[in-house]
Amino acid sequence: MGTYAVTGSASGMGRAAADKLRAAGHTVIGVDLADAEVNADLSAGGGRREAAEAVLAAAGDHLDGAVLAAGIGPVSGRERAIAQVNYLGAVDLLRTWRPALREGKVVVFASNSTTATPLVPRRAVRALLADDPDRAVRSARMFGRAAPLMVYAATKLALTRWVRRNAVRPEWAGEGIRLNALAPGAVRTPLLERQLAEPVGAKAFRSFPVPIGGFGDPDQLGDWVVFLLSDAADFLVGSVLFVDGGSDAYLRPDAW
Ligand code: NAI
Repeated sequence: MGTYAVTGSASGMGRAAADKLRAAGHTVIGVDLADAEVNADLSAGGGRREAAEAVLAAAGDHLDGAVLAAGIGPVSGRERAIAQVNYLGAVDLLRTWRPALREGKVVVFASNSTTATPLVPRRAVRALLADDPDRAVRSARMFGRAAPLMVYAATKLALTRWVRRNAVRPEWAGEGIRLNALAPGAVRTPLLERQLAEPVGAKAFRSFPVPIGGFGDPDQLGDWVVFLLSDAADFLVGSVLFVDGGSDAYLRPDAW
């Protein structure tokens, strides 16, 4: 049985993944604002450092895998926290955990907003990849009411690029670490419920194309996480798996 770190373990898809891993007999060290083995605020550098170190201490410096699910949706007024939690909340922790993850597997929660959101400012994505979330937020300000969505999509684009760039490097693939991204579409979790409760968010979701119809189920995404951490994923490196009811294929049929 393995030891897995799961951020965002108190709610939604992170919680579903943590529950399934525990049910299969694994040890899970959850990280969240509350109700986790490690309670920490990933929107601050100090919180991220403390969380990363507390997990390593609890794991005895060895992790079989990590799931980076903590995230904040495109909520107005929270742009800075979105940039900090969604991007650095994954990347900073993974940088600290890398030596402990030798021969392990990592699932990073991206999003289909990476390909479904038009006009995401490239400057914001570049700023995030340069570890400058404040510059990323400034680059998105000109979008007014759409700024939170732009920051959100920029964090997920930057995170996906970070996964793809690093997955193949000697420090990651060379150490046997399988780094992959899961890109869900709209999945019925508290994050989505908050968006659906706002008139603008609800309208956007009503008009968004989902060929198979409806919303995703957090339990099913939890199953995908468990699969991506299993031996079946030994040859999977740097992949971005869309589980989105067909939206990405609908919007970009000829992307390949
Ligand atoms: P959720 O809101 O149910 O769970 C997110 C968890 O992250 C919560 O437990 C929350 O407390 C934690 N979190 C937020 N801020 C934090 C902070 N400062 N420090 C520590 N933990 C913090 O959300 P959901 O839907 O399960 O999302 C999981 C991941 O999937 C997120 O990264 C989200 O961006 C992504 N995603 C979600 C989609 C959806 O439709 N629900 C679609 C595509 C991606």
